[in-house]
Order: sequence, then structure tokens, then C-alpha cells
Amino acid sequence: MPFNNLICAINDKAAVVTVNRPKALNALNKETLEELLACFAELAVNDDLTGVVLTGAGEKAFVAGADIAAMQHLDALAGREFGRLGQQVMRTIETFAKPVIAAVNGFALGGGCELAMACDIRIASETAKFGQPEVNLGVIPGFGGTQRLPRLVGTGMALELLLTGDMIDAHEACRIGLVNRVVANDHLLPHCLELIGKMARKGPIAIRLCKDAVRGGIELDCESGCRREADLFGLCFASNDQTEGMAAFLAKRQPTFTNN
Ligand code: CAA
Repeated sequence: MPFNNLICAINDKAAVVTVNRPKALNALNKETLEELLACFAELAVNDDLTGVVLTGAGEKAFVAGADIAAMQHLDALAGREFGRLGQQVMRTIETFAKPVIAAVNGFALGGGCELAMACDIRIASETAKFGQPEVNLGVIPGFGGTQRLPRLVGTGMALELLLTGDMIDAHEACRIGLVNRVVANDHLLPHCLELIGKMARKGPIAIRLCKDAVRGGIELDCESGCRREADLFGLCFASNDQTEGMAAFLAKRQPTFTNN
């Protein structure tokens, strides 16, 4: 499907989804959010897909936030609806069955930081910058930032970022656990695609259930999460991939997974 504000390209079975509004530093307006939903719905039915890399067009920004011009005249009800739409996008990415990696190539502010946080893994370029500057605009984060940031970096650090609106660089983001690692700008996309490629060589059912165990379990107390993990662990043993994976190990050969 052609999009106005996104580019979706398949690169050796991995999708590279690029938010493409460089003149507005890839800010998320309603159309872009709706296109992200449509794009992920399309990718969800692509059985060959190994994962998704999400990035921003241009050298300057991943995504500089929700579109401030588009939000300027919203009333309370419309604001809530816009927040819910953004949250739906974040949840769709978070629960996507395949790994989603944010390749953060520049400013990841407000809704852009929230978009990165909805991804499974965040890799930042040397020039990436992160922040939740909503308080500068008289609002709070509306796409899940108040919930996901403390879960990733702890309440104290999250509240400092949320209440000051300060921007941090890629190395500080890495130090506090907001990103997994920092790579040179020109290695960003190749590195993310390499990671997806590495995961693609594992058992696909295990990859899906592992993400499900973490994503579904993180909201539960440890005991309930472990019960859920045991269910999903058990489910693995109903798959041919488990038979193949263990047989291959014991026969000292590489496994051939078939995703069933
Ligand atoms: N929405 C709409 N347009 C934006 C934008 C945004 N979030 N961020 C940047 N732009 C536009 C600018 O208005 C400017 O447009 P014009 O060329 O037409 O004037 C263009 O992108 C380039 O931006 P700047 O000239 O400001 O570039 P800069 O290098 O001087 O500054 C920046 C870069 C620090 C990222 C600055 O643009 C900035 O602070 N942007 C806003 C960041 C922000 O506040 N994000 C949070 C938005 S609220 C939110 O996201 C709520 C939520 O949780 C859902």
C-alpha cells in the first residue's frame, strides 16, 4: 500500500519502516499514526517477514514528537482521542508478533521517544537525542510516555526527564537504559538489520513466544508472569521446531526451523 508519510521497504525479509515527513522532523500527525497502523496490519500478515526496523527520514530526526501544529487547537475530547490513537499505534508495535527495532537516527522527542520505547530494542546513532519535552508545551506525554519511561529507566530518572523536559544525548540514554547501544551513524541501519537477521536464524515460534512472555508478563507480578511463562514454555513442546532444535543440538548440526 502506498503511504503519504511512510516508506515501507522489505530488505531480505525484514521491513524497514521510515517515518517520512522530514520538513516537520517526522512529527506524528493523525494521518501518519493511521498509516503506521495500516502498515503494521499489512506487515502482520506477511508470513515471510522476520522483523521490522523503524526509523526516521533525513539526517536530523527519528521523530520530533506528535505534530504540534496539528494539536494546537484540539479541545479536551479531541486531545483524548488523539492520545488514544497514538497509544493504539504504540500497543500495536509492542504486541507485534515479530521483533521491532527502533533505529534512532536523530531527535526522538515526545511522541518520537514514545514510539522508540514501544519498540522491543532501541539502537541509537551518535547524534540521537531523547527527551519528553511536553511540559514545555503545557501538556504531558500522551502516547504512553508516562508509563513506559519509568518501566524502562526507573521512576526517579523518568520523573526527572518528564518534569524538566530536558534532552539527553545518545550516550546518556544508553547509560540510563533507554537505549541498548550507540553506533556510528552510518552503521545504524546495517546494525539493526544484522540484529533482525540474527533473530531470524532462531526458532520463529520461540522468538514469538519469548516476546509474548516478556511483553505479557511485565505487567504481572512475578509469580503470575512465571505461570504464564510455563504455559508458553509448554506450548513450545507442541512444535516441530522444538523437536528439530533439540535433535539438531544433540546431533551436533545446525537446526532447520520450519515455523510449525
Ligand atoms: N510538530 C510539528 N512540527 C515540528 C515538530 C513537531 N513536534 N518538531 C519540529 N517541527 C518543525 C518545526 O516547526 C520546523 O518547521 P518550519 O521549518 O516549517 O518552521 C521544522 O520542523 C524544523 O524544526 P526547527 O526549525 O525547530 O529545527 P531546530 O533544529 O531548530 O530544532 C528541535 C529541532 C529541537 C527538535 C525542535 O524542532 C523542537 O523542539 N521540536 C519540538 C519537540 C517537541 O516539543 N516534541 C514534543 C511534541 S508534544 C508530544 O509529542 C505529545 C505526545 O506525547 C503525544
